[in-house]
Amino acid sequence: MTSPKSNSIPKNCVIALDGPAGSGKSTTARMLAARLKYNYLDTGAMYRALTVLALRRRVLPSDGVVLKKLADEMQIRFETQKEVNRVFVDGEDMTERIRMPEITRHVSEVSAHRGVREAMVGKQQELGKEGNIVAEGRDTTTVVFPDAHLKVYLDASLECRAQRRLLDMVKLGIETSLEEQEADLRRRDTFDSGRQHSPLRRAEDAYLIDTTHMTIDEQVDKIISLLKTAAKGK
Ligand code: DC
Repeated sequence: MTSPKSNSIPKNCVIALDGPAGSGKSTTARMLAARLKYNYLDTGAMYRALTVLALRRRVLPSDGVVLKKLADEMQIRFETQKEVNRVFVDGEDMTERIRMPEITRHVSEVSAHRGVREAMVGKQQELGKEGNIVAEGRDTTTVVFPDAHLKVYLDASLECRAQRRLLDMVKLGIETSLEEQEADLRRRDTFDSGRQHSPLRRAEDAYLIDTTHMTIDEQVDKIISLLKTAAKGK
């Protein structure tokens, strides 16, 4: 990190945000990256993209060996266009496809295999090696970037997270209900936190932010103020 003046935003940092689905990570990370002029790394999108490839090629979500091979071989690239983080896999734009309910249903199982995680973590560390990055996911503070300059764990009540997911789905034109979203979040929380390899957990040195009653702007402001404080302490 370059030495910051007392109130300036440091350069070249890695900022890692983890938390459960619907905690506000993605929007916060994207807006934070835009404010800091950093790159935004959505690690969940990478596991989702692998799930698209797997289902298309009829690879079972339980088949860790073939999934690892697919993960090793896939070329993934992100591009921000009109404030949307677009995801390209082997040249194909998969931005909308990765958010479909069928993908959400299978992604936790696909992402739980050790080999898959090793392949993805390698790609993520490569993308973050120059710093200037806001990364978000389930293990960015614990496994991918354990030495990040700032680590944050975002959380919110289940009801609030389900409301947010419902709104996301409505925007995508997908029919669903609050109950369905709550059930899906409960299932994913259990799976993502209970798995053997890199389970979702709060790193000891991660700041906890409960976003239940916060707007996205407040969340971004809070993280920027944490970043300035962390920089002053260096
Ligand atoms: O953040 P998301 O909902 O797009 O993530 C989709 C899934 O990917 C999530 O249920 C668990 C998995 N995931 C993971 O295992 N590790 C990450 N760093 C990010 C996501």
